[in-house]
Amino acid sequence: MGLKRNPNLMLKKIFIKTFGCQMNEYDSNRIFDTVKKIGFEKTDKYEDANCYLLNTCHIRDKAKEKVYHEIGRVKKIFRSKKKPIVIVAGCVAQAENQEMLRREPYIDIVIGPQSYHKINDAIQRHTNNKKKEEETEFDTILKFNYLSKIKNKNSKVSSFLTIQEGCDKFCHFCVVPYTRGPEYSRPFDQIINEAHEIVQSGAKEIILLGQNVNAYSYEDKNKKYKLSDLLLELENFNEIKRIRYTTSHPKDMTDDLINVYKKSTKLMPLVHLPVQSGSNKILKLMNRKHTIEEYLIIYERLKKINVNVEFSSDFIIGYPEENDDDFKNTMELIEKVKFTNSYSFIFSPRPGTVAADLDLVDKKKSKERLEIIQKKLFNNQIEKNKSLEGKTVNVLVENRMKDGIKLFGRTEYMTSVIFDGDLENIGKIVQVEITSSNQNSLFGKLKESYKQKVA
Ligand code: SAM
Ligand code: SF4
Ligand code: F3S
Repeated sequence: MGLKRNPNLMLKKIFIKTFGCQMNEYDSNRIFDTVKKIGFEKTDKYEDANCYLLNTCHIRDKAKEKVYHEIGRVKKIFRSKKKPIVIVAGCVAQAENQEMLRREPYIDIVIGPQSYHKINDAIQRHTNNKKKEEETEFDTILKFNYLSKIKNKNSKVSSFLTIQEGCDKFCHFCVVPYTRGPEYSRPFDQIINEAHEIVQSGAKEIILLGQNVNAYSYEDKNKKYKLSDLLLELENFNEIKRIRYTTSHPKDMTDDLINVYKKSTKLMPLVHLPVQSGSNKILKLMNRKHTIEEYLIIYERLKKINVNVEFSSDFIIGYPEENDDDFKNTMELIEKVKFTNSYSFIFSPRPGTVAADLDLVDKKKSKERLEIIQKKLFNNQIEKNKSLEGKTVNVLVENRMKDGIKLFGRTEYMTSVIFDGDLENIGKIVQVEITSSNQNSLFGKLKESYKQKVA
């Protein structure tokens, strides 16, 4: 569009607040790469912003109310100042669209996750004519074509890279198929080019993202590419030390992907494979399209290929019709698989989904079950962390802690490690001797012989 360059925009500052999953984090970075083109700088101080963007999540209840609450806060902050342009992006924007503009006049632009290529036009039109803007089409192909021409400037040691978006699975509890749209896989070359960009900016670990990342499938005239092809291609990048992917669906855990765990030296041995429940009855009611037996076959096959593989998962507690036996099955599955680094939430009915109006499990019962499962999962984590005390672990060093003294990194299993070290260790894999631990983190010191060594 032949938009006039507004000289005032050259001084504009954007504050971006991100809720939700890793894909929203990736999106927020790409939104920033995009608005930079029309003169925005990033600010960490919301008071300084002339553009306030909320990147929202719709996965559980009160998501919508949280957004209005946040806008209320922004209103207060800017009461005696010039109003910033207020943008609501992400999954709530997609789900609520026009309704948000009607309910809260302080919002200027509502933009859904598959329309970010239109954000600059929307901001500029709004700046020129002060009209409200709403962009919620599912233009995924156009979005990625547009974004692929804008350099990904993310300079984190561990960087996200979206390879797939949307979902066609329609689990009965989940809003994602409605907020992110149909499954779409980005072209193989586009992804590899973007991987080169983030590696040039300093990435040492790449985390491939998708709502169904292992459903990735892209065909050009030469070949049909799957997630396993991407993983093996990234393996050839000298600069990349570690590769991860999230989130997978058990149904798409195909042989080629499982076999990468045999060949790859860079694919990390933590498999995040959400199971949601240990009961076949509940899985069926959820429309999860797999059984516990099938899940366990994946578990056993992966363990056989690589004994170091461990599993993390997501659990939904108190799904309609979950009884004590169903819950017991979930607990038994946790005992068997020994999940670490996992998430559990009480079922939250989402408008527009099949499970929205089902009879809920008694609230008190659900809370009790959540407490039990979390205790179990936390204990697994505490025990695992304790077992590492006195041992040496490989840590990819990500940054300096806020205290300005300690360094922060992660083990191969994503556990946080905090230790003393020099800035020159950032971006390297070092060996850390673990001296103590708690549920969330390991603490230690750089192994003497590793102090000067680089990975
Ligand atoms: N695609 C992934 C999969 O198939 O498992 C999950 C993506 S979803 C963004 C992340 C997690 O949110 C899910 O695994 C599920 O545990 C949780 N979740 C989704 N909808 C929920 C709901 N209505 N109530 C509670 N938790 C929910
Ligand atoms: Fe949601 Fe994942 Fe199910 Fe898709 S597969 S509907 S993203 S839980
Ligand atoms: Fe939330 Fe949308 Fe991610 S609903 S979890 S931000 S895909």
